[in-house]
Amino acid sequence: MVTPIIKTIEDVERLAAAAAEEFVQAARAAIAARQRFTVALAGGSTPRRTYELLAAAPYRDQVDWARVEFFWGDERGVAPDHNDSNFHMANEALLRKLAVPGGHVHRMSADRTDREGAARDYEAELARVFGCPGPPAKPPSFDLLLLGMGPDAHTLSLFPGTQALQETPRWVVPNFVPKFADKGDFAHRLTFTKGMANAAARVVFTVGGADKAVPLAEVLEGPPDPDRLPSQTIRPAPGQLVWLVERAAAARLTKTSS
Ligand code: 6PG
Repeated sequence: MVTPIIKTIEDVERLAAAAAEEFVQAARAAIAARQRFTVALAGGSTPRRTYELLAAAPYRDQVDWARVEFFWGDERGVAPDHNDSNFHMANEALLRKLAVPGGHVHRMSADRTDREGAARDYEAELARVFGCPGPPAKPPSFDLLLLGMGPDAHTLSLFPGTQALQETPRWVVPNFVPKFADKGDFAHRLTFTKGMANAAARVVFTVGGADKAVPLAEVLEGPPDPDRLPSQTIRPAPGQLVWLVERAAAARLTKTSS
């Protein structure tokens, strides 16, 4: 079982910089070894600053962006120009500022009404880019998977008690989130499964804010309860697991690596 590395970081600006460092190091190592870097981006609000930093000096100049393949770990059921879109956030903060070949940006089309078809198409796209058979074959291994955690301990769009948490050979599935039922398309998601996430070579969570302190302690130090605490299901094997945690979010932890 992988032992997570947990790093406590003073404030949210340094948290964003630490995540940018992780990105650059993983990208440089992968491009040196295999001439390309495969990354699945996180949505939500925390990574925005990381993406902005990556789009500017000095980070921008440290990555050969033409060799990066961008995927997303999850997406909300909204159009790609909607403010709730994870693609939109990453595009505004990072992608449109870089010379990334269009064919290297693999958006999840969670705005399609046929979300099952969209999930299967995304699996086919993953299989094509990684050059491997699709599900039920084992999932391909991302060089880096960036994740966030919600105050309810969800990660990706794996929300507590939802169907997508069940064991499955699938890589990407639609997931309906009942607690957002009154928020229309926002409740309809596409998400990596835990099997897909746990195939990654390196997983980096970035977590900030005092509202995450209690759930984070439960996830990292509490008894196993993955249906209630979906972030506990992220245990890449044989990959590495890193938690970058801002001080307020780390307040309830008793054990950290730094
Ligand atoms: C999403 C995300 C989600 C996110 C967490 C943390 O689409 O909502 O990908 O898993 O990472 O909710 O979000 P914040 O960074 O906004 O707290």
